[in-house]
Amino acid sequence: MKLRDPSHDIIIFERNAPGVTFGWGVVFSDQTVENLQANDPKSAKVIADEFAHWDDIDVHFGGECITSSGHGFIGIGRKRLLEILTDRARDLGVQLQFEAECDPADPKWRDYDLVIASDGINSRFRDAYPDAFGVDVDVRANKFVWLGTSKVFDAFNFAFEKTEHGWIWAHAYRFAPDCSTFIVECSEDTWRNFGFDRMDQAEAIAACEKLFAKYLDGHSLQSNAAHLVGSAAWLNFRRIKCERWSTGNVILLGDAAHTAHFSVGSGTKLALEDAIKLADVLNRPGLSLEAAMDEYVAERNLEVLKLQNSARNSTEWFETLERYTHFEPLQFAYSLLTRSQRISHENLRLRDREWLEGVERWFWKRATDGRSNKTAPPMFAPFRLREMQVENRVTVSPMAMYSAVDGTPNDFHFVHYGERAMGGAGLVFTEMTCVSPEGRISPGCTGMWNDDHIAAWKRIVDFVHANSKAKICLQLGHSGAKGSTRVGWEEDNAPLPDGNWAVMAASDVAWSPVNQVPTPMTRADMDAVRDQFVAAVRMGLECGFDMIELHAAHGYLLSGFLTPLQNRRTDEYGGSLENRLRYPLEVFAAMRAAWPSDRPMSVRISATDWAGEQGVTPDEAVEIAEAFAREGADLIDVSAGQTWTGSQPVYGRMFQTPFSDKLRNEARLATMAVGNIYEPDHANSILAAGRADLVALARPHLIDPFWTLRAAAQLDYRDVHVPPQYLNGMSQLARNLKRETEAAAALRV
Ligand SMILES: Cc1cc2nc3c(=O)[nH]c(=O)nc-3n(C[C@H](O)[C@H](O)[C@H](O)COP(=O)(O)OP(=O)(O)OC[C@H]3O[C@@H](n4cnc5c(N)ncnc54)[C@H](O)[C@@H]3O)c2cc1C
Ligand SMILES: Cc1cc2nc3c(=O)[nH]c(=O)nc-3n(C[C@H](O)[C@H](O)[C@H](O)COP(=O)(O)O)c2cc1C
Repeated sequence: MKLRDPSHDIIIFERNAPGVTFGWGVVFSDQTVENLQANDPKSAKVIADEFAHWDDIDVHFGGECITSSGHGFIGIGRKRLLEILTDRARDLGVQLQFEAECDPADPKWRDYDLVIASDGINSRFRDAYPDAFGVDVDVRANKFVWLGTSKVFDAFNFAFEKTEHGWIWAHAYRFAPDCSTFIVECSEDTWRNFGFDRMDQAEAIAACEKLFAKYLDGHSLQSNAAHLVGSAAWLNFRRIKCERWSTGNVILLGDAAHTAHFSVGSGTKLALEDAIKLADVLNRPGLSLEAAMDEYVAERNLEVLKLQNSARNSTEWFETLERYTHFEPLQFAYSLLTRSQRISHENLRLRDREWLEGVERWFWKRATDGRSNKTAPPMFAPFRLREMQVENRVTVSPMAMYSAVDGTPNDFHFVHYGERAMGGAGLVFTEMTCVSPEGRISPGCTGMWNDDHIAAWKRIVDFVHANSKAKICLQLGHSGAKGSTRVGWEEDNAPLPDGNWAVMAASDVAWSPVNQVPTPMTRADMDAVRDQFVAAVRMGLECGFDMIELHAAHGYLLSGFLTPLQNRRTDEYGGSLENRLRYPLEVFAAMRAAWPSDRPMSVRISATDWAGEQGVTPDEAVEIAEAFAREGADLIDVSAGQTWTGSQPVYGRMFQTPFSDKLRNEARLATMAVGNIYEPDHANSILAAGRADLVALARPHLIDPFWTLRAAAQLDYRDVHVPPQYLNGMSQLARNLKRETEAAAALRV
């Protein structure tokens, strides 16, 4: 503010004495420094001259140290940063009042034009008006303590130690020539098991020194939070969000308005960038105070939300660490580096090509039982389910085409599936194919209940096998309460204008107020439907399908048994999860018994109802997946939601992948991830990080049947199967893309 207009009167009130702060070092990105340089070159230069700079990240795990490079961090001591900014402020004529505790209730604040409440995470100004600011605090699960040490680390270190009390780890990095930050973190259980809740600070520090002795080389750990007694030095991270950032003449800035988990190292950056933006709008000629505030909040809020999203992924990774401790060290490190989803596979290639290629070789070796030494993108590695081997990890997700007549697939389906199989995906799913006329969603759904269906599907399957390397999986389902509705592009889930058929479901719960109330299924209905599924499996075998999937997601019949939002039964098929699972498992087991033991089967589930504890939770989904696996499911196809009309999913790139990650690594099952995966880079990151075994893409395949071949051309991967008729096109695409990449690189130089 003073730089932009020296006539401003600025007073800073700080409760501490000069130079007193808690914490140790902070890290910045190059971008933050550029931002500082553009706004206050003088401070930026002093700060930049003193930065500690390093490129490597060392991940210590499972007795190995995995080093990757090219990460480009800069760090500085918190105390030194404050000194630099304090001196600069004083030189510019800002009044500084230290040891001045500010009380928001003090009437003097009304006399100022503007009160910028940058009073940190425990902001008294924010907490004085929680409703006006719409404060939302999320107290996270893990415990951490912020320590320092004179041991100088050459890299950013993550050190994970398995102890009799549980996993405990350190985040350590140098921020000055003679000093490093050393944050110790663990779960609350581990913290209690260690007895940290009963130790004073000196005891806790001594315990940490012992635990991490091999990394400290005889150096001690120190705390500078002497004012915090006993176990209070250990904190739970608090994520702060505010709906509004100003009230009256008070405006929030920095941690007072928002926090981002320390593992993404961006709190100081956010606070500085808030300040830069605020100074910008407050000094812009012609902008009213109100308009200035609006612009400040709108722009900063967006940036903060983006960062808080990545920070949440990162926080959750550390909170669910045990999920990943069965990984080999290299994959563990990859998972750690990509945890926030901000750093992707190709991003890692740019940072450290050699390291990333090592990960790719490791992936291919594992995928081929050691037979392949290939360095190639993970999405092209084969995958085996029972005796079925898919050529690559890309799947065309099931998509209803609503184009059949009386359940019979026609030329549209022949071209549709044939084209997608020739497009290079390793596995192509059919749309939900219904086991009876009444089990259809709409009159346009495909079916599998008569000889016409067998003949039509066989023609498609034979074409796929003759003209591509793709395997083809038949998805079987029954619509339940969501049956007898219009085709998808007319009005999704709306009843037919006429000719509706009666629907049945677990209970008499209508899908929505405009849909029919279904008849609750009797045991005789259950027997009949189970037998229809089994008959459809046998027909699928006649057609030559490679795999069968049972559709138990999205609120259709079997999903309606699984979710308490639709299942209100009081018999042994309703109530507890064990009861809700009983009928879907019975159907699955009967299908499995009819399907050859050398061919795989999968189940699609909704891993959450997006309804909190009222519906299926991700924890329950783990139990559901395990139950199907016990009955012989080889793959869990992890979708989410669509089980009730009120759900409000959190959309975003790869938004359902966390559920696949959870199921795969908690239940140790093979999974397929689906949901807004659209870049080859997404697929490779998911697979290499062990978040899924296969990736399914639905909508991207609607407009681009050749998604996989295009990805191969983009990534310059030559070993993919291309129909010989199309070889010329493929090599030309690869050449053109390569030329474009080179031209773009030359431009950057
Ligand atoms: C363990 C840990 C590690 C972190 N690592 C990083 C990192 O690597 N990189 C990074 O960018 N960020 C990091 N952060 C976050 C970073 O410390 C904060 O985001 C940043 O300090 C926020 O700046 P601020 O000015 O908003 O708040 P603060 O730095 O907290 O400053 C608030 C100031 O207001 C003063 N104050 C508060 N109340 C009053 C009052 N009533 N009267 C007078 N004065 C008052 C306080 O004394 C303090 O000086 C980390 C945080 C933690 C907990
Ligand atoms: C037109 C269309 C029809 C769909 N039909 C089915 C279906 O028959 N069975 C099924 O399990 N999922 C179906 N889905 C859901 C997709 O398989 C997939 O889970 C969802 O679209 C999210 O993936 P995406 O972001 O890649 O599109 C359908 C999706 C679309 C767009």
